[in-house]
Amino acid sequence: MQSDRPLIISSVTDLRAHLADMRSQGSRIAFVPTMGNLHQGHLDLVAHAGERADHTVVSIFVNPMQFGPNEDFDAYPRTLEADSEALAGSACQVIFAPTVREMYPHGVNTEIDVPGLSTILCGHHRPGHFKGVATVVTKLLNIVQPDVAVFGNKDYQQLKVIQTVATDLLLPVEIVGVDTTREPSGLAMSSRNAYLTEDQRALAANLYHSLQTLADAVRRDQGVSTTLRKEKARLSALGFVLDYLEIRNADDLTQSAMEADTVVILVAAKLGQARLIDNVVVQTP
Ligand code: PAF
Repeated sequence: MQSDRPLIISSVTDLRAHLADMRSQGSRIAFVPTMGNLHQGHLDLVAHAGERADHTVVSIFVNPMQFGPNEDFDAYPRTLEADSEALAGSACQVIFAPTVREMYPHGVNTEIDVPGLSTILCGHHRPGHFKGVATVVTKLLNIVQPDVAVFGNKDYQQLKVIQTVATDLLLPVEIVGVDTTREPSGLAMSSRNAYLTEDQRALAANLYHSLQTLADAVRRDQGVSTTLRKEKARLSALGFVLDYLEIRNADDLTQSAMEADTVVILVAAKLGQARLIDNVVVQTP
């Protein structure tokens, strides 16, 4: 094992003891929750976390509670060895890699839910997903008790759900969103891109092109509804099965988008075995 790899801790008790030690030395703690299978997007989150704290913890936990019955929980890649290698030399000093039993020793008797935000967009297509995310993130924040927790803006609705939980439960943590890391083609980096064939991966960049075309229409305030219709038809013709392509208020994801100062254009679509999501945030004129 290389010495610059992070320490791997799998028990809640051991992690708490380690972090108590760090805090007693005056360290500010940053936290990056992940499900592993790390790519450059995650490494960018870790670099960002490292700039905001003295000690960075990355959790790697494939959370069963956020997967639906017909989703890819079993197939989701578990790559702890490669992930710890990827984090070698990064700002991450500790990987928290608990088992399901460690995280849910008594099953799920308490849930965290943000009903309004959790049932629209991805929540409509993945019932229970955000309840699973909100519950596990609250548990992780309670274990790590970081000063700052860093999430990707790619999962925009997830970020809004987590910000709402932190605000409503008065959690003493700063929740930070970091810009999406993209392939040169524009495709947002995601662990689920691994499910794409080479041809599908090239095609997948069209999601970002549609978002950009729509962002232009919003900025010019011209032909937004027509562009939306055309882009939906174009993506469908290319073979995407669209869950949604929508323009929403960037603050609260309500549909009152065109009255908002800032909107977010969000897309979710299946391409082959992969369900892909992406978004861009745009100032209205
Ligand atoms: O974005 C993810 O990888 C997951 O939803 C998260 C935040 C780690 C919770 O399991």
